[in-house]
Amino acid sequence: MVPRWAFVLWLAVQAKLSTKDKLANWGMQVEDKCVLCNNARDTHHHLFFQCPFSSMVWQQVLVRTLAPGIPNTLTDIVDWLVQYGTSKVFRNLVLHSTLAVAVYGIWIERNAGVFQGLSKHVDVVSLNVVNSIRDFLCSKKCVKNSTLNRAFGDKWRLPDSIFSM
Ligand SMILES: *[C@@H]1O[C@H](CO)[C@@H](O)[C@H](O)[C@H]1NC(C)=O
Repeated sequence: MVPRWAFVLWLAVQAKLSTKDKLANWGMQVEDKCVLCNNARDTHHHLFFQCPFSSMVWQQVLVRTLAPGIPNTLTDIVDWLVQYGTSKVFRNLVLHSTLAVAVYGIWIERNAGVFQGLSKHVDVVSLNVVNSIRDFLCSKKCVKNSTLNRAFGDKWRLPDSIFSM
């Protein structure tokens, strides 16, 4: 896993990222609207799950994980990580990297809005997330050539060369 993805995911599941609700709790005067939807407070739960912008990113990436359902709380993500953990099984790698990169991509987009006033279309953000996951998966070698793994290969358009003979 790329360290910056793992780090942000680790902070996110503990609700330790500096969302605006935190800053307000520390007594700072801040405009606490979510910059992605402009329609709710900037909290972990909102930012990663309730925000319509983030939901669209999740939908775009999760259809490619062949996973049953969508995590919709931070606790769900922790459960997924425990269940699909850090083992080397390719499916777990797909799920783990998807969770990490989607959370990272949403966080980076949120920061661009908060600190630079920049915003991208949700399709661009989703595509960046998908491409980062794909690049990561393409860097793998000797993936077992099973029916399930080839299904992931199709979903992420991975080259045949990652599969072992
Ligand atoms: C993987 O298995 C499929 C089906 O058996 C086969 O068509 C394909 O060539 C195999 N790919 C590799 C890289 O061995």
